[in-house]
Amino acid sequence: MASHDGKWALFWVSLTILATWTFLQVIYNLFGHPLSRFAGPRHFAASRIPYVYTSFSGRLAVKFHELHTEYGSVVRTAPNELSFIEPSAWRTIYDRKNEHQTPFRKNYDSFNETRSQIRRSMYLAGDQEHARMRKILSHAFSPGALRSQEPLLQKHVRELMEGVDHERLNNKGIVDLEKWYSWIAFDMIGDTSFGEPFNCISEPDHRSWPLMLSRVRKVITGVSGLKSIAPSLPLLQYLLPGSILQKSVLQHVVNALAFDLGKVKDRIASKPSRGDVLSSIVQHNHENGSLDDTEIMANASLFILAGTETVATLLSAVTYFLTQNPGALRNLAEEIRGNFKDESLLTAQNLAHTPYLTACLEEAMRLVPPVPEGLPRVTPPEGEYICGHWVPGGTFVQISTLAANLSLSNFTDPLSFIPERWLATSPHSCTSDRKQASQPFSTGPRNCIGQALALSEVRLVIAKIIRRYDLRCIMQDSWTDQPTYLLWDRKPLLVELIPVID
Ligand code: HEM
Repeated sequence: MASHDGKWALFWVSLTILATWTFLQVIYNLFGHPLSRFAGPRHFAASRIPYVYTSFSGRLAVKFHELHTEYGSVVRTAPNELSFIEPSAWRTIYDRKNEHQTPFRKNYDSFNETRSQIRRSMYLAGDQEHARMRKILSHAFSPGALRSQEPLLQKHVRELMEGVDHERLNNKGIVDLEKWYSWIAFDMIGDTSFGEPFNCISEPDHRSWPLMLSRVRKVITGVSGLKSIAPSLPLLQYLLPGSILQKSVLQHVVNALAFDLGKVKDRIASKPSRGDVLSSIVQHNHENGSLDDTEIMANASLFILAGTETVATLLSAVTYFLTQNPGALRNLAEEIRGNFKDESLLTAQNLAHTPYLTACLEEAMRLVPPVPEGLPRVTPPEGEYICGHWVPGGTFVQISTLAANLSLSNFTDPLSFIPERWLATSPHSCTSDRKQASQPFSTGPRNCIGQALALSEVRLVIAKIIRRYDLRCIMQDSWTDQPTYLLWDRKPLLVELIPVID
């Protein structure tokens, strides 16, 4: 009996200590913390729980936008975190050119759960390692390398057009383009990177890849959110139902996603000359700081994680906005159909000189940035001024991408699709736009290495679709109204495709 009472006493004492500690922490976060002078909602400043809850509900990107609209250009989004939307913050946080300035390191906490998958890739590498790998990998994304990858892209676009046409004929002209765009994004990246197309278009059995990747994102969001509010995940694993945190969930999906490493290894050994990324790496891998096989394979996984859903989002977004804006669709159709009388002229090189198409892509990425939530970084130990605000060392900072792009302080009529704002002769009403605010591929030494490849892929697909069809969206609700879990959880995009008579 006495020992039973003793256990209860211990329980109540522990609970009281925990409650007091939490209370004091909240008071400190609100009134004593160095960030307490920054604007933001009280509950976000008091504890990280509201942030994590918002992230679990898939509303983080939209919430950041709401917070910036209410509180201005700098918002305290968690006890130790600030979000910025001023264009000049891009330079300070991500692109520190002065050699005396310590770079802001990546906020690994946000990516912890991906570390087993891409631990040895350049994405999570420290600055020196990153520079070594990026130097070798960049050859694979040079203009020459991209030219040699074009036949691979063309092959997949041909397959896409056949598949889409088939579905159109069997489905009264209506096609869910989001689905097809996801499949082609996987096929193109697998093939151009390492000669292993996922064959999502040609083999229906292989079509679970996009779904698996979206599950990986949700698991990462969930586990890293829980980790950020609880000091020890093992303790949570003990307390919460196993199904929520079972390590095997993540492990299972990650394993399934893992590239067929054996085949890639064989290809490295056979010194391929196929014009893909792997061939380029093998060709340049005698330079100083060459990559070992594990690093090559880790970067293979990285390319798939980074280069599939982002491309599918841009394809879907630009298609959606064109269906909603008949004037823009007409202008683009004139550019494509007027300049490319023959379909064989639709090459990545020729399409690089289509200003209206490029403007449509810029504007689609402004309204639906493929990486929507932001790119978390940590200020260096000595602290730094960001947009005129002194920020202490060790603070989590980021530009919230969607919020920056939709802010009235950066763009006129920010919620409207106006491709013309990106043209040299932009309309008078948009001359005050602060275009530098929208950086869909980020800036600085860790910006997107696959930018040119992504744009080539998207231009080829959109130009082919527009040259062949008129588009009519048949959905009632807005396609952009969708959750984010690191990236967008894309909704179906039902479009009626009406063949153009040449
Ligand atoms: C529209 C399509 C794309 C968008 C908007 C996009 C955007 C981005 C952004 C914002 C980053 C910086 C991430 C950060 O700082 O945490 C990034 C990095 C990266 N992207 Fe992309 N990306 C796209 C397509 C691609 C493609 C097709 C590839 C193909 C290989 C790719 C490969 C990478 C890699 C490897 C990195 C890491 C670079 C480094 O750490 O140096 N991306 N991307």
